[in-house]
Amino acid sequence: MFELEPPKDDGLSIEQVGPWSAHKHHFLRRYIDAFTTSMKSKSWSGLHYIDLFAGAGIERLRGNGLDWGSPLIAAQAPHRFSRLHLCELDKTKFQALSTRIGGFDQPGEPQLLNGDANQAIDPIMNQIPERSLTLAFLDPYGLHLHFSTLQKLAQRRTDLVIFFPDHLDALRNWENVYQGKPDSNLDRVLGTDVWYDRMMAEPQDNWAATLTQVYAEQIRTLGYSQFEYERIARPQGQPLYRLIFCSADKAGAHLWQRVASKKPGGQYTFGFEQ
Ligand SMILES: C[S@@+](CC[C@H](N)C(=O)[O-])C[C@H]1O[C@@H](n2cnc3c(N)ncnc32)[C@H](O)[C@@H]1O
Repeated sequence: MFELEPPKDDGLSIEQVGPWSAHKHHFLRRYIDAFTTSMKSKSWSGLHYIDLFAGAGIERLRGNGLDWGSPLIAAQAPHRFSRLHLCELDKTKFQALSTRIGGFDQPGEPQLLNGDANQAIDPIMNQIPERSLTLAFLDPYGLHLHFSTLQKLAQRRTDLVIFFPDHLDALRNWENVYQGKPDSNLDRVLGTDVWYDRMMAEPQDNWAATLTQVYAEQIRTLGYSQFEYERIARPQGQPLYRLIFCSADKAGAHLWQRVASKKPGGQYTFGFEQ
């Protein structure tokens, strides 16, 4: 598995983030390594990487120094992707990312978009060739990834790594922000409004699992059959996100199971994690 020396402070925009961000990157780095190594020789016309909530490329982990952000982890894969497709809404972060990405040679010129992920998906999908294989890293702060965007990603063979903010946003805000609001963010993200009745039919302890279940059922309608889950939590254990890996192919799921059996602390586990 490829390891990276921590980045240096280059004076450009660096956001401070919680230590759990390093856990996301642990899984991403390991999966990128396995994916680009094992899939490069297959008969795909190219391997693409899409990052719709890309950030600035370098982050400051609270109390723990600098860390590479997801797009620059992808940019440093030992077996490079054919092309990177990166979107970031914030102008300052986008400019920092655009400068930083130029420091890493890529086979194809990266596609960089400053705007909303749910709109940028159209010009991005126009650039993804048929018979290519794509990895999409979908890491919003809250309920910002619309289901319609997943529908567009599913038009090509794409493995998905989704951060679903079940506790961070959905459960924290459902009563005041989403309940009873037609076309609320929760409706737009899940692509359905059945979540409310499904939650109400369950004890509150099961609500996070119920939302994930509704989401997975929806994603299944797009042709995905393989699902793997990881819990992303604060150091004290409070849950934040659920990482959901989705693939249409058992080979993708086997690859994920292998790389995700090593947890961020270095421990190997083999069971399903809530
Ligand atoms: C969790 S951070 C991404 C971190 C990055 N993926 C990483 O791992 O290094 C979420 C990013 O999404 C950006 N963002 C928020 N809303 C967005 C939107 N609608 N479209 C695109 N980017 C958005 C934020 O500015 C922020 O940089």
